[in-house]
Amino acid sequence: MGENHAPGAEDAFALSQLMFPTTAMCISVAARHGLADVLADRALPVDELASLTGTDPTQLGKVLRLLAEDGVFREVRADVFENSPLSHLLRSGYPRSQHFMARLVGSGWLWDAWGRLAEGLATGRPGFEIAYDTSLWRYLSRHPEEGQVFNGAMNDFSEALSDLVAAAYPEFGESEIIADLGGGTGTYLGAVLTLYPGIRRGILVDLEPVIEQARARADLRPLLDQQRLQLTSGDFFENVPADVDTYVVKQVMHSWDDLHVARLLRRCRIVSPRARFVAAEFVRDAKSARFVKNFDLVMSVTMNGNIRSEAQYAALFRSAGYELTRVVPTDTAFSLLEARPLA
Ligand SMILES: C[S@@+](CC[C@H](N)C(=O)[O-])C[C@H]1O[C@@H](n2cnc3c(N)ncnc32)[C@H](O)[C@@H]1O
Repeated sequence: MGENHAPGAEDAFALSQLMFPTTAMCISVAARHGLADVLADRALPVDELASLTGTDPTQLGKVLRLLAEDGVFREVRADVFENSPLSHLLRSGYPRSQHFMARLVGSGWLWDAWGRLAEGLATGRPGFEIAYDTSLWRYLSRHPEEGQVFNGAMNDFSEALSDLVAAAYPEFGESEIIADLGGGTGTYLGAVLTLYPGIRRGILVDLEPVIEQARARADLRPLLDQQRLQLTSGDFFENVPADVDTYVVKQVMHSWDDLHVARLLRRCRIVSPRARFVAAEFVRDAKSARFVKNFDLVMSVTMNGNIRSEAQYAALFRSAGYELTRVVPTDTAFSLLEARPLA
């Protein structure tokens, strides 16, 4: 080892700082125990917050002090905390709330999956499947409470970004019938239908428990009553709506390996031979943000998915009879990949 490369004590300290899995779990328990909801717009001493939330004051103080380091909550004076702009987002029902996303990152099943990362690296299998011997989607269907947190998290994420993604592709307005495959509880499709009133009908396709949750959403009622939104439960590998102008997916291609994505694309190509396909996905390149790298790893740990490069997307579309015609940037980390059927 050259002298210039001899690690100093500060290097060892810097590395050890990275080793604690604290931030994600502390954010998650803050959401689960409703700390930000109870604080709302006032400052409270730790003891009082602990008694209002049924938590242990000593442990609560540690959680809050750690999070305040990163600007989640603010310590206004010793042992007195208030919400910060970031911690307000842990409140449920708050604009751009990330309440369910925060709860999701602390889910026991997700930590079990992370715990199998070493085996995943050795075998290429998702840690989740090693730990539970089933797919995440089957697991979530059989554990409705976990499923609701997952769907709520997808919704938090979509709600914060859907308008911006939808606005980046005015061509949506040229469609009469759009189908959103694996559309979750309908936030993205709802945003597309609202922004482009000329679209006659949007068909939301997802698994039955997710569609049930979409059906219960009061904010989607007007679109359902106007019959502009149709809810369809089922397995998109078995069945997709026919005679559609535009298929959309968001965060679905990155959830599956190439074989599954190609199978889905071919099914669309058969039943709507002229329809275009518009996928909202992250695209991996040399400048990918840390957020995207994190996401890529989460995909491997949970479901054998991958964030692909533009060339990989193009090859995947081509293998299923589509040409990747445009990659449209949005004001978010998502790009819109437009693909049209090959002649
Ligand atoms: C990562 S989530 C994305 C949800 C939504 N598109 C969004 O961006 O918020 C993937 C969705 O695919 C759905 N899904 C998974 N397997 C499916 C299948 N075989 N058929 C239909 N939907 C499926 C899941 O239930 C989930 O809602």
